[in-house]
Amino acid sequence: MYENPRLILDSSNPPEPGQITWRSPSNLAIIKYWGKYGQQLPRNPSLSLTLAASCTDMMLDYTFKEEGDSHDLDLTFAFHQEPNEAFHAKILAFLNTLTPFFPFLKQLNLNIQTGNSFPHSAGIASSASSMSALALCLCSLEDLLFGSLQDPAEFDRKASYIARLGSGSACRSIFPYAAVWGETSLVPGTSDTYAVPLEDHIHDLFKDFHDDILIVSTAEKSVSSRAGHALMDGNPYSEARYAQARSRFATLLDAMRAGDLATFGKIAEDEALTLHALMMSSNPSYMLMRPESIAIIDKVRQYRADTGHPVYFSLDAGPNIHLLYPGEIIHEVRAFIEDHLKEHCEDGYVQQDWVGEGPEEI
Ligand code: PMV
Repeated sequence: MYENPRLILDSSNPPEPGQITWRSPSNLAIIKYWGKYGQQLPRNPSLSLTLAASCTDMMLDYTFKEEGDSHDLDLTFAFHQEPNEAFHAKILAFLNTLTPFFPFLKQLNLNIQTGNSFPHSAGIASSASSMSALALCLCSLEDLLFGSLQDPAEFDRKASYIARLGSGSACRSIFPYAAVWGETSLVPGTSDTYAVPLEDHIHDLFKDFHDDILIVSTAEKSVSSRAGHALMDGNPYSEARYAQARSRFATLLDAMRAGDLATFGKIAEDEALTLHALMMSSNPSYMLMRPESIAIIDKVRQYRADTGHPVYFSLDAGPNIHLLYPGEIIHEVRAFIEDHLKEHCEDGYVQQDWVGEGPEEI
């Protein structure tokens, strides 16, 4: 769709060296994407909240190659000012797959410096923030060199499309507050190949909304998301799951339009537990929740029953608990975390986050 062989620079009129920097956040899916086909295409539509504090900064420098330089992609790379062979290789391999979309990349010497606002070992997935930051840098570069992405909606759509190729969930990080990825008749303009903004379809209370991430374990996941998605193909519940996700999506959309927190929270929790139940019912079966995850879930449910406060939990593909609540009860909830939940976190670590306005060029 976005392949474009005409995006080639004229060597008789080379561009000046330049630099582009984006800050892009992570996101938390409320309706989960779990199971895919083809080239990172989702089996069901997903809906996420865009975060604010958990983000990646990425700086891309470029210079036009001299005559006689190699025609291969040329990338130097640093993560938190240090060389990082594993990340370097991963990004270079990804960029190589993107040359049909950005053929001019081979005409440039590229340098990427990147880092996350949260510790690398925090157990917070950085693929959504890093892949969206990279996609945004590449789209800005294309626009700078060719003026071909002047329309902001078209810019975002291509950035989302490219981010998806790096990590499916990353395509949702491009948009403020909330996003939908996956074709559904319920939201106009949706596609399996990129996400769309949901800002105009949600109640204002979701724009002042918190997601404090309780870090139960910083250990590397025993099963990657890639392997987890693949196991859905043999999962006996997969078809029922995709139908369930569609049905919950419809209910969630109504609840988010209306500002119905109780329904929102019930679906967020059901989706988190379904994701982990799918892992447990995969063959081979695996489990990413830890005893501390369950201890926190029990306490959150009890706290809600005792106080009536709309506080809900979610999980990503890991043991850490995301605590979701509206801004108006922040003092009560932060005290609850401090007094009762922190003790279950590794070294008492909590990453405070909230729903944000999406990526920014800096
Ligand atoms: O984007 P991936 O391939 O890492 O998959 C992410 C899947 C979940 O985070 C578990 C759910 C989601 O929709 O973000």
